[in-house]
Amino acid sequence: MPDEGRKRRSTEWFGKADKDGFAHRSWMKNQGLPQHLFDGRPVIGICNTWSELTPCNAHFRVIAERVKRGVYEAGGFPLEFPVMSLGETLMRPTTMMFRNLASMDVEESIRANPIDGVVLLVGCDKTTPALLMGAASCDLPAIALSGGPMLNGRYRGEQIGSGTHVWKFDAMVKAGEMSMQDFMDAEASMSRSIGHCMTMGTASTMASMVEALGMGLPTNAAIPAADSRRNTLAHLVGRRIVEMVEEDLRMSKVLTRGAFENAVRANGAIGGSTNAVIHLLALAGRMGVHFTLDDWDRLGRNVPCLVNLMPSGQYLMEDFYYAGGLPAVLRELGEQGLLDKGAMTVNGRAIWDNVADAPCYEREVIHAFDQPFKPHGGIAVLRGNLAPSGAVLKPSAASPELMTHRGRAVVFEDIDHYRARVDDPDLDIDPSCVMVLKNCGPKGYPGMAEVGNMALPQKILKQGVTDMVRISDARMSGTAYGTVVLHVTPEAAAGGPLALVQDGDMIALDVEGRSLQLDVGEEELARRRDAWSAPPPPSARGWAQLYHRHVNQADLGCDLDFLVGSSGAPVPRENH
Ligand code: FES
Repeated sequence: MPDEGRKRRSTEWFGKADKDGFAHRSWMKNQGLPQHLFDGRPVIGICNTWSELTPCNAHFRVIAERVKRGVYEAGGFPLEFPVMSLGETLMRPTTMMFRNLASMDVEESIRANPIDGVVLLVGCDKTTPALLMGAASCDLPAIALSGGPMLNGRYRGEQIGSGTHVWKFDAMVKAGEMSMQDFMDAEASMSRSIGHCMTMGTASTMASMVEALGMGLPTNAAIPAADSRRNTLAHLVGRRIVEMVEEDLRMSKVLTRGAFENAVRANGAIGGSTNAVIHLLALAGRMGVHFTLDDWDRLGRNVPCLVNLMPSGQYLMEDFYYAGGLPAVLRELGEQGLLDKGAMTVNGRAIWDNVADAPCYEREVIHAFDQPFKPHGGIAVLRGNLAPSGAVLKPSAASPELMTHRGRAVVFEDIDHYRARVDDPDLDIDPSCVMVLKNCGPKGYPGMAEVGNMALPQKILKQGVTDMVRISDARMSGTAYGTVVLHVTPEAAAGGPLALVQDGDMIALDVEGRSLQLDVGEEELARRRDAWSAPPPPSARGWAQLYHRHVNQADLGCDLDFLVGSSGAPVPRENH
């Protein structure tokens, strides 16, 4: 019989000597599970986002098996369960519309089941925040384990990076510099192993955030998916989560304000994705940690970019791992007093204890703090009459000569209008113009798609111009680059000032001054506001309708208003 002295959450299911206990154990035994596994040992959920529709996570059944080995070895009882998977490349309209839905799946799956601790298998962009957010709302002991990046892409002797080279090749095709046949040939060369995008895009950024937040074991971010050491890490995660249950090391003891501050600075140092801004704001909201959009600017402002990785630089995640990975970056920050050294991590040690001696093997890839790769690594938060609640720009991916710019607006009312108009030979546009895209925010698209780095008109590209100022309420792929103002809040579809911009208006961007101004008088803006009406909701039913009604704006992380906060993991009432 179960050992009643070792009462855990799972004991409420498996530890009872009555008909309910019989039912809970009996049906599980149809999987060939022996009685001793129900003796009160920690039950470890392995929350798996495996899916063949999510190619970045398609190897996760192998990883889950390695986690199980570690769990068994440490005396735990592993139980793998699936949750909604979010594959960045296939899902429409955009995975971001489903991040919160997946987080609800995670939260309710954990709360409804006999789970004492959980391993979160994450990889493709949104799977990481979705699983962290869902688990945060339950606040059990949890470790996130990333699936690892793909091996470096290689095409005709050149290193090519996920996403980044899609944008580059696409621009080359449009400019007549690459044939369509060569474009097609590059496909298999870019994605040549298991794993997620190997640029410092959103997936690698979020894997780095997992490590900087203390939610993953050291080296989580960079070990390639195809490297045997990724499986070793999975094994160790399995061992460690069992200990965490014994220690009652819950997420709320790890995800403190200090952890978020460390993550913001780490994001600056790695030249990380702007998407991390939204995801960490949402995660902090679930944890009840006071953490705002302005913290991103304030904490990241003096952090240089140390890591020379695409899209801002030259190398890829495989190189980053060989150079020392995130521990080497965190050490640089710690030595400059830019790390909350006492922040707890999932291995039970303070973050500084994990990284104080971390070596760097290649300074060309991970620069020293006093010889940075780029002087500005953080996220610039812009405000002004065009973005009263904020907008963001990634300085390390922008063109220095465009960081202070005043130009004439060329306006696209939504993504369809952009597609129909951008390559119209009669479009009145030149490289000094500011491209403005509306109605691509959380409510507008819906789901705030990654279209903010809209391609330049072909006639501009053919002039050899590769960057222009672009402004929208959309997001941008972490693999993209350019002088791109994103996340303008409030969004156009919610009646933000962005909705009022018209062709020919003058817009002033001043990144150093953190300002974004529309040079149109208040009287004229009021007239336009009176004439404006909200676009109709995208759907009258289902998830899209619920999402549209309840999604918060980007400055609050785009969570649903009723999901903010945590309710812990109380054991629900019995089902019969
Ligand atoms: Fe999955 Fe980039 S598409 S991580």
